[in-house]
Amino acid sequence: MTAIEFPGEPRRRGSNLEKWGWIYMRASGVVLLVLIFGHLFMNLMVGDGIQAIDFGFVGGKWADPFWQWWDVLMLWLALIHGANGMRTLVNDYTNPGTVQKVLKGALFAAAAVLIILGTLVVFTFEPCPAGAPADLLPSFCAA
Ligand code: HEM
Repeated sequence: MTAIEFPGEPRRRGSNLEKWGWIYMRASGVVLLVLIFGHLFMNLMVGDGIQAIDFGFVGGKWADPFWQWWDVLMLWLALIHGANGMRTLVNDYTNPGTVQKVLKGALFAAAAVLIILGTLVVFTFEPCPAGAPADLLPSFCAA
């Protein structure tokens, strides 16, 4: 595909981060549709639906690598998608300068902290904490 060239604009060479950001928003949007609606369907509609959500339900899901990776992928894609989308808004609504830098720095920091903490929670979650009442835990803890 030939890039559109505007008179007076230097020809772009090498990687173009803005272009990849644009592609990322579309690609992650499609994947997020599947992940988010799959997540809502499994948590709210299958079996007892929303009534079934408690510690044991979450512990049971995160004992399965499939759901761990499903949730972590959803976390990463959504946070990067949301932060990058907000970066676009900051670019559109603020002038280059300190305020813009602070806003983008805050977006980056918030996304990074939540990605790191969320990933740690999903992969280090203890579904059978010692001393907890058995009726609150997933069924496999009793064994
Ligand atoms: C159902 C899944 C989703 C789909 C299909 C989707 C799709 C998209 C697309 C295609 C864009 C680009 C729009 C443009 O450039 O004009 C976009 C922008 C954006 N998305 Fe999503 N998205 C989804 C979920 C999310 C989630 C979960 C968040 C928050 C974490 C989010 C936050 C944003 C933000 C802040 C923007 C920038 C808004 C703008 O450019 O006006 N999206 N989304």
